[in-house]
Amino acid sequence: MTGVAADPRTELTERIARLKRERQAVILAHNYQLGEVQDIADFVGDSLELSQRAVNVEADVIVFCGVTFMAETAKILNPERTVLIPDPLAGCPMCEMSPVEEVRKRIADLPGVPVVAYVNTTAAVKAEVDICCTSANAIKVVESLPDERVLFVPDKNLGHWVQRHTSKEIILWEGHCPTHQRITVQDVRRLKEEHPQAVVIVHPECTPDVIDSGDHVLSTGQMVRWARESDAGEVIVGTEVGLIHRLKKESPEKTFYPISKLTTCPNMKRITLEKVAWALEDMQYGISVPEEVAAGARRAIERMLEVV
Ligand code: 13P
Ligand code: SF4
Repeated sequence: MTGVAADPRTELTERIARLKRERQAVILAHNYQLGEVQDIADFVGDSLELSQRAVNVEADVIVFCGVTFMAETAKILNPERTVLIPDPLAGCPMCEMSPVEEVRKRIADLPGVPVVAYVNTTAAVKAEVDICCTSANAIKVVESLPDERVLFVPDKNLGHWVQRHTSKEIILWEGHCPTHQRITVQDVRRLKEEHPQAVVIVHPECTPDVIDSGDHVLSTGQMVRWARESDAGEVIVGTEVGLIHRLKKESPEKTFYPISKLTTCPNMKRITLEKVAWALEDMQYGISVPEEVAAGARRAIERMLEVV
């Protein structure tokens, strides 16, 4: 036998590229996806950038590499297109922290108070609220409302951070991201001792004390842009480890230190190259949102997109 065996990863990426052409598909991926998944995507971004991108998709099929609420948002904005998620179990636990029945009850207890829902909610919750937000635009969205009191669901950390930047009263919900909640001030201190020159950037899903220990509080998309434009040569990154791949790729001359190798989102990591290939081969797993729910959710998402 002669010849060199083909690299199975290369075979897989070639198979995905061929299937993508055959299916007229586009691949959208969140910044927390595995590096090899980010590398085969047509577009990689944060929650806001992915929603904005989903509005302009022309392909027949969207393969969404992220968690289910993100794929649902793409489907709500593109009801006539096929939206696939390579693993239907890739849910965001924060979405489970604001069940729609509880949100309805709270809304009934607070008549006249507008509700802002972080996009990390189910479509059913989005359909009940006034407007959505992401970590990139939460302050702007809250400030866009004429009211003096706002109910903010479900991330208490993001809500707390917004409270610091607005004179409005933010009524918080008891939700959080289990991945960001694990980041501690001790993590920041330890890395600062090891790398005293480094600038600390943190995500607003972190707890208030971690946010206080950071130099900049940014969404993942804002982190990518900030790193590109900043003079800082060393950066401590207080968010999910998947972002490090994107940061290194876009700013190869800089050094990025993940806050902890344990800061990983197991749901984001459910999406693999193999599953992306199977999704395109078998056209699975299709996202569907009943139109009566989608219509209400679309209104709240589109209102957010008008603000930013
Ligand atoms: P962004 O990428 O929008 O900053 O959000 C992070 C996140 O946890 C999404 O689930
Ligand atoms: Fe949800 Fe946190 Fe994972 Fe984002 S990082 S998808 S908020 S669990």
